[in-house]
Amino acid sequence: MPVLQLDGGDLFGRRNQNERFQTEFLCEEVADLGVDAIGLGEQDLNYGLKFLRSMMDKYGLQFTSANVKDAATGKLILPEYLIVKRGGITFGIVSVLDPAQKILTMTADDSQFQVDDPVATLRELVPRLREKVDTVVLLGHLGDSQTDNVVKEIQGIDISVTGHTYRNITTERILNDTVMLGASYEGRYLGDADLMIDPDNGKVMAVAIKVTPMDDKVADDPEMLKKVKDFKQRLVDFKEAKRAAYPRTFGSDQENFLGDRSCKGCHEDAWNVYAKSAHMKAYMTLRNKGQHFEPDCLVCHTTGYQYKNGYADEAPYNRLINVQCEACHGYGTQHARDGKWVTQAKDSCVVCHDKENSPEFDYDTYWAKIKH
Ligand code: HEC
Ligand code: HEC
Ligand code: HEC
Ligand code: HEC
Repeated sequence: MPVLQLDGGDLFGRRNQNERFQTEFLCEEVADLGVDAIGLGEQDLNYGLKFLRSMMDKYGLQFTSANVKDAATGKLILPEYLIVKRGGITFGIVSVLDPAQKILTMTADDSQFQVDDPVATLRELVPRLREKVDTVVLLGHLGDSQTDNVVKEIQGIDISVTGHTYRNITTERILNDTVMLGASYEGRYLGDADLMIDPDNGKVMAVAIKVTPMDDKVADDPEMLKKVKDFKQRLVDFKEAKRAAYPRTFGSDQENFLGDRSCKGCHEDAWNVYAKSAHMKAYMTLRNKGQHFEPDCLVCHTTGYQYKNGYADEAPYNRLINVQCEACHGYGTQHARDGKWVTQAKDSCVVCHDKENSPEFDYDTYWAKIKH
C-alpha cells in the first residue's frame, strides 16, 4: 500500500547547543524513515536558516513553507509547495506558519523573517496549485482552532494536517470538504489515515483514522535502539567536551562555596542590595532564553563555574546559580576580616564584565548600582 508521510513541523529542538547536536541526529533518522514533506514550524528556525538549509541538503529533508520570507529580500525561504506522486495520485503539499509564533534564532547574525497572513497566502496559492495536482494537502503550523479557521475560509483543501498542537484527532472529522488530521507532539503518537481517493478528481471519498501512542507497548526496533544508544554516548561526549572548555582551574578542593543564604543573617544590608540586583536574576535570564545548560553562558551567570566545588548542573552544586556574594568575594570557607576580601571583590568584575558582554562597563558607575 503506497504511503505518504507528513510532518506538521517543529521537528527541531530548543535553542541551545546540546539540542542542536541532537537535532542533527533526529534529522538523519527522520530522513531515513522517508518523510515526504515537513511544514515549517517556528522551532525549525531555532538554529538559523543556514543550519536548516544544511540539514535539508545533507539529509534530503523536504521542508516547505508558503508564507515565511526573508525580511530583507521579501523572498520565500523554502519551496512554496511540494509535489509528490503516490499511488497514482499527484499530491500538492503546502504549509503556512502562524504569524503570532515568534521566530527566534540562536545566531545573532542570521536573517530576519517576515511571516505573511496565512489566509491571504492560501487564497492565492491553493487555486494555482489545484491546476497542477489532484489532491491538495495543507500542513497548517497553526494549532487547532486557527487551522480550523483557515480551512473554513479556503476552498479546495482536500486534506489538512494540524501542526503546533498538543491534541490528537482520533475520530474521522470532516470540515467543509476537508479531511482533518492531527497527531500530538514530540512523536509521542503516530497518526495513520487510510484514505480512498477518487483518481478522477482527487477528492477523498472515504477515510479511516487511527492514532497509536508510541509507548512501551510498541516494541523497539533493535537497529534504531542501537543507534539511539550510540547517540546518547556521543551526546555525553559532546557535553563533556563543551564543559572542558571551562576547566576548574581555580581554587581548592578544601574550600567551599556556602551559598548566598548563609551570609544573609549577618549581612542584612548587603543582602538587601543584592536581592534587588540583576546578579540575583542572572540564571533566570538564561532560563528565559533556554540557555541554562550552556557552558558558554553559565560561566558568567553562575557562581564559581571555573572553581573547584563551584557551580555544576548536579546537586549540591546546582544551588550556586546566579552571581552570588561568593562570585565576587570568594569561598565562604575563607571568610576573613583583613580587607583581602574587599580587594578581591573589586578585581572580580572584569572577569565577567568583559568588552564583549558588558561594553559599557565602568567600575564607578556600575558599583554605584550595587553599592553595599
Ligand atoms: C561571575 C560573573 C560576574 C561578576 C564577577 C560580576 N558581575 Fe555584574 N553582572 C553579571 C551578569 C551575568 C549580569 C547580568 C545579569 C542579568 O541581568 O541576568 C551582571 C549585571 C550587573 C549589573 C546590572 C547592570 C544593569 O545595567 O542593570 C551591575 C551594576 C553589575 N553587574 C555590576 C558589577 C560589579 C560592580 C562587579 C564587580 C564588583 C560585578 N558586577 C561582578 C556577572 C558578573
Ligand atoms: C564573559 C561573561 C559572560 C558570558 C560568557 C555571558 N554573559 Fe550574559 N552577561 C554578562 C554580563 C556582565 C552582563 C551584564 C551586562 C551589562 O549590563 O553591562 C550580561 C547580560 C546578559 C543579558 C542581558 C540581561 C538583561 O536582562 O538585560 C542576557 C540576556 C545575557 N547576558 C545572556 C547570555 C547568554 C545567553 C550567554 C551565552 C550565550 C551569555 N549571556 C554569556 C556576562 C556574560
Ligand atoms: C558583584 C560583586 C559583589 C557581590 C555579588 C557582592 N559583593 Fe559584597 N562587595 C563587593 C565589593 C566590590 C566590595 C568592596 C567595595 C568597596 O569597599 O569599595 C564589597 C563589600 C562588601 C562588604 C564590606 C562592606 C564594608 O565596607 O565593610 C561586605 C560585608 C559584603 N560586601 C558582603 C556581601 C554579601 C553578604 C553579599 C551577598 C548578599 C555580597 N557582598 C555580594 C562586591 C560584591
Ligand atoms: C556569623 C556571621 C557572619 C556570616 C555568616 C558571614 N559574615 Fe561576613 N562578616 C562578619 C563580620 C562580623 C564581619 C566584620 C564586620 C563587618 O565588616 O561587617 C564580616 C566581614 C565581611 C566582609 C568584609 C571583609 C573585610 O575584609 O573587610 C565581607 C566581604 C563579608 N563579611 C562577606 C561575607 C559573605 C560573602 C558571607 C557569606 C558567604 C559572609 N560574610 C558570612 C560576619 C559574618
